[in-house]
Amino acid sequence: MGGYLTQDRAPILEALERMKRARLVPFDVPGHKRGRGNPELRDFLGEKCLDVDVNSMKMLDNLCHPVSVIRDAEKLAAEAFGAAHAFFMVGGTTSAVQAMVLTAVGRGDKIIMPRNVHRSAINALILCGAVPVYVNPQMDHTLGISLGMRVEEVKDAIRRHPDAKAVLANNPTYYGICSNLREIVRLAHEHGMMVLADEAHSTHFYFNDKLPVSAMAAGADMASISMHKSGGSLTQSSMLLCGPNVNAGYVHQVINITQTTSGSYLLLSSLDISRRNLALHGQEIFDKVIRLVEYARDEINAIGDYYAYSRELINGDSVYDFDTTKLSIAPDGPRGHRGLRPAARRVRHPDGVRRHREPPGLRLSRRPPEGHRAPRRGARGDPAQLPQGFLEDAQGRVHRAGGRLRSAGGILRREGVAAHRVDSGPRLQ
Ligand SMILES: Cc1ncc(COP(=O)(O)O)c(C=O)c1O
Repeated sequence: MGGYLTQDRAPILEALERMKRARLVPFDVPGHKRGRGNPELRDFLGEKCLDVDVNSMKMLDNLCHPVSVIRDAEKLAAEAFGAAHAFFMVGGTTSAVQAMVLTAVGRGDKIIMPRNVHRSAINALILCGAVPVYVNPQMDHTLGISLGMRVEEVKDAIRRHPDAKAVLANNPTYYGICSNLREIVRLAHEHGMMVLADEAHSTHFYFNDKLPVSAMAAGADMASISMHKSGGSLTQSSMLLCGPNVNAGYVHQVINITQTTSGSYLLLSSLDISRRNLALHGQEIFDKVIRLVEYARDEINAIGDYYAYSRELINGDSVYDFDTTKLSIAPDGPRGHRGLRPAARRVRHPDGVRRHREPPGLRLSRRPPEGHRAPRRGARGDPAQLPQGFLEDAQGRVHRAGGRLRSAGGILRREGVAAHRVDSGPRLQ
């Protein structure tokens, strides 16, 4: 890579800025002509946005055959992610997963994968006619979530199907659970199989040393990265990463079978800008995220009837590692919880006036239940000294929440959930 191409650069963004300065008059697609042809759209999205909603032209390179600014931006991304090659994708991680599978297997080839793969992987099999060899992920029946693949089960699948061409792994699952990817890579490579990683939920693994190993660091051959999920880019923008033993030219041909010939520069520039941000500030950004999530998790767990699980699930195998930035909350506490439910739902306040969101299973108790002392009004100071509030759960059990409720309420509200304390009116402020 030329010395001038450093991580503080953003070649696609810079090319778009040059294009704007050149004050070109568009006689080309898109037909909205920088918004002039569609004032309603321009009013809604803004001039700045429509000014750069352009199609490929010489100064902006072309996603199908990048030779200048897109190629440079992809090189910077590959370097930032520790990959040999990075492809910018504008059809979501769905298109990256499909390109990955279509590269590795063809009609009749076997591919080992967990049952809980994303539909994009299954649909890729429909497209290419490859045959899945499923490994059943372990389940946590009390939490109601699927876990990772056990190494022994991957080993067994490889033993039973030595002719398989590839192994696909989720790194991590939707719930932040990681399998032992390094060992899976070692096993697969020992048997001449490629390793493909669905990394829709792990862009941040590449930029913080306190998080689980990324697929590229673990030696996987290809990885599909949802930059738009935890990397900050626009929805639908994504990346496909390749390791050193993958024929990038062939991958590119596969991508071009289904990829649009009109790649959106809004999406491409968002990938470029987000890569720059992560490369320069990722460690610090995700250090902060980890701190905030751990604080929220502690406070939620201190309420008593919720279980925000974390690294204690790690068992060296089906939960080999855990993404601590993932905050999932199970109702009913660590024991006897009934599985994960949506984090919040809209309810009508008992007085019928305001609408609130409340934590699942909890509702406002406006007066202390029988046998409980009425809380003192208006106390201030040390949260530990604050009067207790009451929360009533779906079974009518009453929980005293005191100072903890105030801080937990703050956390829940930041998460989009409102909690209530009875001694300060209907809303906890
Ligand atoms: C595990 C996994 N893989 C792939 C995808 C597809 O990503 P996209 O929505 O960007 O196409 C998702 C989407 O949520 C996912 O959860």
